[in-house]
Amino acid sequence: MAFIEWTSDLDTGIGWVDEQHRKIVDCINDLHAVDRASGTRDSVSDVMGRLIAYTRYHFSEEEKMLERAGYRLLETHQGIHRGFIDKLHTIHEQYRRGADTLTSLLALLENWLFSHIRVHDRGYVATVKSAGADRL
Ligand SMILES: [Fe+2]
Ligand SMILES: [Fe+2]
Repeated sequence: MAFIEWTSDLDTGIGWVDEQHRKIVDCINDLHAVDRASGTRDSVSDVMGRLIAYTRYHFSEEEKMLERAGYRLLETHQGIHRGFIDKLHTIHEQYRRGADTLTSLLALLENWLFSHIRVHDRGYVATVKSAGADRL
């Protein structure tokens, strides 16, 4: 069974955003799987790196959409994204230096991602749709 299962309350109704969110969930499940399979520290670290890179990509695409929509909470949303990426980098760095940060990373990812999608991402949907900015 996957570490995290997608539930329909995570859908925003914006097709490409939901696809990218699902990919992030897949990356988190990959990270959990490589650990369960007793992957080497290097292989775990690679999966962490890919997850962070994809999350950054998603955030920048999302921010471009919020800019197109003239979303008034854009800067706040950007700040939240930046803070999260900083945290991921710190944990990744600690892992690379030999600390056992994988469990706390998985917990952070699960809690943060779900609450971010449910609260902050859901908060922009109406504005984005009414501005017609939901297409890539
Ligand atoms: Fe977001
Ligand atoms: Fe998002």
